[in-house]
Order: sequence, then C-alpha cells, then structure tokens
Amino acid sequence: MKITRNDLEELDNRDPLNQYRSEFNIPEDILYFDGNSLGALPSATVHRVNEVILNEWGSNLINSWNSSGWYTLSETIGNKIAKLIGADDGEIVCVDGTGLNINKVHAVALKMRKNRKVILMEETGFPTDAYITQGLIDQLEQGHIIRFIKKDEILDAITDEVALVSLTQVHYKTGHLFDMKTITQKAHAAGALVVWDLSHSAGVLPIELNKCNVDFAVGCTYKFLNGGPGSPGYLYVSKRHQGKQIQPLTGWWSHKKPFAFEQNYRPKNDIGQFLSGTQPIIALAAAEVGIDMVLRADIALIRRKSIELGEIFIRLIQEHLIDYDLDIVTPRNGADRGSQISLSSPNGFAIIQALKEVGVIGDFRSPDNMRFGFAPLYTRYTDLWDAVKKLQVIMENDTWRAERFNNPIDVT
Ligand SMILES: Cc1ncc(COP(=O)(O)O)c(C=O)c1O
Repeated sequence: MKITRNDLEELDNRDPLNQYRSEFNIPEDILYFDGNSLGALPSATVHRVNEVILNEWGSNLINSWNSSGWYTLSETIGNKIAKLIGADDGEIVCVDGTGLNINKVHAVALKMRKNRKVILMEETGFPTDAYITQGLIDQLEQGHIIRFIKKDEILDAITDEVALVSLTQVHYKTGHLFDMKTITQKAHAAGALVVWDLSHSAGVLPIELNKCNVDFAVGCTYKFLNGGPGSPGYLYVSKRHQGKQIQPLTGWWSHKKPFAFEQNYRPKNDIGQFLSGTQPIIALAAAEVGIDMVLRADIALIRRKSIELGEIFIRLIQEHLIDYDLDIVTPRNGADRGSQISLSSPNGFAIIQALKEVGVIGDFRSPDNMRFGFAPLYTRYTDLWDAVKKLQVIMENDTWRAERFNNPIDVT
C-alpha cells in the first residue's frame, strides 16, 4: 500500500520528539532539509547570545573571563559533547574549526608513529580533511604520503606501513556510514592510529568513541548540533594519548601557565594542550545552546526517527518519482547510513534551485548530488510528503530548465 499524507500526520502526532520542533525558529513556509549542512536556529540561542552580549560582555566586561566561565568554556562545552559521543570528561575541547583540529591531531598522530609514512583516507572524503593533511605533509617534509582508497577496500589497505587511518564516519555526499568499531580494531591490530571526523554523525546517531577505542576525533557543531554558521569545532584525544606528544599550534592557551607569561613554551599535559588562542565566546555560547538541546533528547529516539525518515523518503521517491532519472545513492539499509538521502541527477543543481523557489531547501554537491538531510528534532514526517510532491511538480513541468535555476551561485 502506498504511503498517504494522513499516515505521516499520524506519525507526527505520535512522534516522541515532536515537542522539539517548536523550540526552533523555522519559517512557516520553509521545508528545511539542510540540517546536515547548517542546523536550524534554536530560539533559546537568540536569548543566550543577547545575554552574553548585553550582560556578560556589555555590563561585566573583562570580568566575565572569570565570573561567567568564559576562560574554561571550551572545556565545559567539550565535556557536554563528550556525553553525546561516548567520551569522558577531559577528553574533548570545543575549539577552532574542524580543519584546524585535523591539523593538530594528525600532527600528533604522525609523531606517535614516526617510522610509518602512509596516511589512509577514503578517496571521495570531504576535501578539507585531505587538503589540511596535504598542507601538513608539506610542512613536515618527512616523506609522508596520503594513500586514497575506495570505501570497500579500506580494511584490506590497512597494513603495517600505515601510520594513520583518517576517515569521516558519515560520508558527506552519499550518507554512507563507516564501521567505526571494525576499522578502528583493524587499524590498531596493524599498529596504526585512527582519526574520525564526526561532522555528519554527532547529534544524529549514537557514537561510542571510548568503547570503540578511538584515538582521535574531530567534528563541527554547525550541522546536527545547531551551533550556528561557522560555530567552533571540537576535537577528542583519548586520555591514553594525552600529555605525550604536543600539537604544533603552541599558542599561549595551550601553555601550562598562560597568565605567567613566561618566555618559553611549556605544554599543558591534558586536553588543554589542544587549545591554541583566545576563543570566540559569543559563538561558543551559541553552540552550547544547540548542544544542550540535543543532550536533552534521547539519542536512541533521534536515531530511530532518522532511519524512519530516510525509509519513508526513499519510498515516496519510488512511489511518486519513478519516471524521472533520480538515482538514490545513499545506502537503502538504515543501519548503513547517516541522516540524509542523496539523489543523483545530471540536472541536480538546477532541480535544487527550483526546489528552493518553492520553499524546499536541500543542497547540491558537485557534480550531480542532491542532498536531503533529516534533523529528527525538527524535521516532520509530513515535510517529506510535502517536499516530494513539490519535487514531483518540478519534474513533471520541467521547471528546473528555466535559466534562473541554471545560473551559478557561490554556495551550492
Ligand atoms: C566531513 C567534514 N569535515 C569538515 C568540514 C568543514 O570543516 P571546517 O569547519 O573547517 O570548514 C565539513 C564541512 O561541511 C565536513 O563535511
């Protein structure tokens, strides 16, 4: 039997997460499927940012570094993220951007495996991870190489030449979920270390960094953690690796005694060594609100709804759009994907622009990938129906062919 809109209304009514939607500021006329790129705005963020600006900064001025907890905010938020992704207190700092954090943890990992020169990365992973690593290799000048491999060949490629396996847990284009536990085990058995980029997984699926024995991880807070555009990233360093090697961006915040203003560098020997300089407090405060909200919700319920949203979306595409050349590139099996469904079409760019004009926001990743992300805290089941129906009209009428949908834009 085909799915009806009524079926989906019933699911919305019964949804144990449906109270969260009203905590977000989402325009009535928008169907938002881009929480995998920029999460929606929690209403509480507006209040919190105002409070930080007017009270903590405006009235309390520089005293707030001490009295409002600014000085330790990276660690405070890091400990909250730790609860979400299976780490302990003192293993995560919320700091800098994902790319910078990759630089820090890759540098440390390579020092820990001095005699090995190979870094394994998946060949179609998010480019910044590879670009930053290429920059690091260039700076080190020690003959490291990145070996790019196909996703199905990762386990076989982990040999005793490999220093580091660096992967994104959920692929940004296809939504494919990599097996953190198995890959980490295989890497350790071969004497290699692992770095996981959690940008597309934190906040939408249960993650067990410590149970999986992960060495290092990084991620961003602006996707499913709803931290705001360009909000700070985070990095995880397992306790067993702290205080051994120092990361190279040895700014004063990573010094043992920043306010002693000593001439020579002495590293902190805990997660604080992975800080570098003064952090953007307003942005950190905004990020904290989004993280707090995800922490309040049950991650198992989030994952269950995320998988179900994906299943229903796939069925709706099959039931209403079978006549069009839209291939589903995301794994059909819910356990094998993150929280997005991607369709491929040579006309994907224009179709996504045409959808935006009718209030359906997904995004496009070159050359042919149309991404639809599901954020279980605010995506409604009926949104799926409404979006697929609007897509059907665009496909039936060839609306996407109009010139205005085919003009290049900066951010796709
Ligand atoms: C997997 C992954 N890593 C890193 C980034 C971006 O890193 P940064 O926050 O440094 O721009 C993204 C951005 O979408 C991403 O998808």
